[in-house]
Amino acid sequence: MDSIIIQGGRPLNGTVEASGAKNAALPLLAAAILTDKPVIYHRMPHLRDITTMITLLANQGADVSMDDQGCVHVDTSTSTNPEAPYELVKTMRASALVLGPLLARFGRARVSLPGGCAIGARPMDMHLKGLEAMGAVIEVEHGYVDATVPAGRLHGARIAFDKVTVTGTENLMMAAALADGVTILENAAREPEVVNLADSLRSMGADITGDGSSNIRICGVTSLHGADLTVIADRIEAATYLAAGLISGGDVTVRKVEADLLDAFLARLRDAGAIVEVGNASKDSDSWIRCKASGRLKSVNIETSPHPGFPTDLQAQFMALMCVASGSSVIRETIFENRFMHVQELRRMGARIVLNGNTAVVEGIEALSGAPVMATDLRASASLVLAGLAAQGETVISRVYHIDRGYERIEEKLGQLGACIRRNTPHTDMFRRPESAPI
Ligand code: EPZ
Repeated sequence: MDSIIIQGGRPLNGTVEASGAKNAALPLLAAAILTDKPVIYHRMPHLRDITTMITLLANQGADVSMDDQGCVHVDTSTSTNPEAPYELVKTMRASALVLGPLLARFGRARVSLPGGCAIGARPMDMHLKGLEAMGAVIEVEHGYVDATVPAGRLHGARIAFDKVTVTGTENLMMAAALADGVTILENAAREPEVVNLADSLRSMGADITGDGSSNIRICGVTSLHGADLTVIADRIEAATYLAAGLISGGDVTVRKVEADLLDAFLARLRDAGAIVEVGNASKDSDSWIRCKASGRLKSVNIETSPHPGFPTDLQAQFMALMCVASGSSVIRETIFENRFMHVQELRRMGARIVLNGNTAVVEGIEALSGAPVMATDLRASASLVLAGLAAQGETVISRVYHIDRGYERIEEKLGQLGACIRRNTPHTDMFRRPESAPI
């Protein structure tokens, strides 16, 4: 398994470009199931999770191609197998996003339950309850969701989510796009990725209003046509690089990302004393966000919450920043029940963090020290990279396949900013026993 090695203590300076957002690209790809016409995607990131979703669509019989410019063509007119097998779903729980589109297009679906996840139980009960309200008959057995639509076509329904669910909102919005009648989603997710999906569905002919608010109205149509879709910027990736500049005492600009995607995060950085400058896209330039340290950051308290609150996907990265800030900060995680897996690894680097249920109290120290650490989940691994950039000495992060799920060419982009970082890919022959070696 690959590892990433970082020699810390070097300030990062310069400009990188944000990739397309993983969490927007995944539902956009699933939306191709809703039409038998070709769909073309632009700014598709090169990530393991995207490869998994493309494999899933191909496994259903779709014709999928991706060039190295981030352009993907999907044609599901040849799809005949409405399944998402365990072998694929176990590597990416967002595979569940094909459930609503498969039911809407084919009237049946067999999708593996995602199973456990490092950051929490992450059930999909709200997805299933919503689809049942729309006329699906669902059985869960042998680790699979077996769903059918006896009436042949889903019908509109009023669905009030008990909790805000991002992919739950996306799954049901896609199912409702082809349903007979009107669907109202109440307490819907307001994330920018949900709005990117709604915009994309509208460009395919869907009738959707209210996206970006807590109440979304979908008036089902009988069919959707193909379209050219563009993935929005990855706000979580962009914020991670801005944090890399700050934690290393540098000055980093991320291009092709709109500041209003990160209002809550940028507000907390300003509270911590960072200098934050933003620029909107114009005919002469792309949008951009610049962050630079003006001395040691001050400690700041955060509490994660659904958009437009502080993103849970930036909690681990912000904690890394607070590990070397002056003073103590309180970090509350309200979305997932086990999203502090990075804490034990940060402690190995000298961080002073006390956990009490879903609350972490971080006492900032002058400097972390490099150490061998282990990535446990996608955003936890990003926080270890940030800590390694700031630490004195060498940090070796193992199990970096977690990072590759959500960060495109991370060591290349950080190296571009001046980080001393490299990837180590062990060769299997290193462990092959030489012929002469005694058994
Ligand atoms: C999406 O996950 C994102 N993934 C996550 O990003 C993100 O952390 C999360 O939203 C919250 O913003 C994608 O978009 C692919 P939820 P999702 O449904 O939709 C509970 C990353 O690092 N819940 O909004 O799976 C759930 O357990 C990933 O890029 C139910 O109880 O999250 C959680 O406590 C990690 N029943 C809360 O709701 C359900 O049916 C919010 O989960 C669904 C969710």
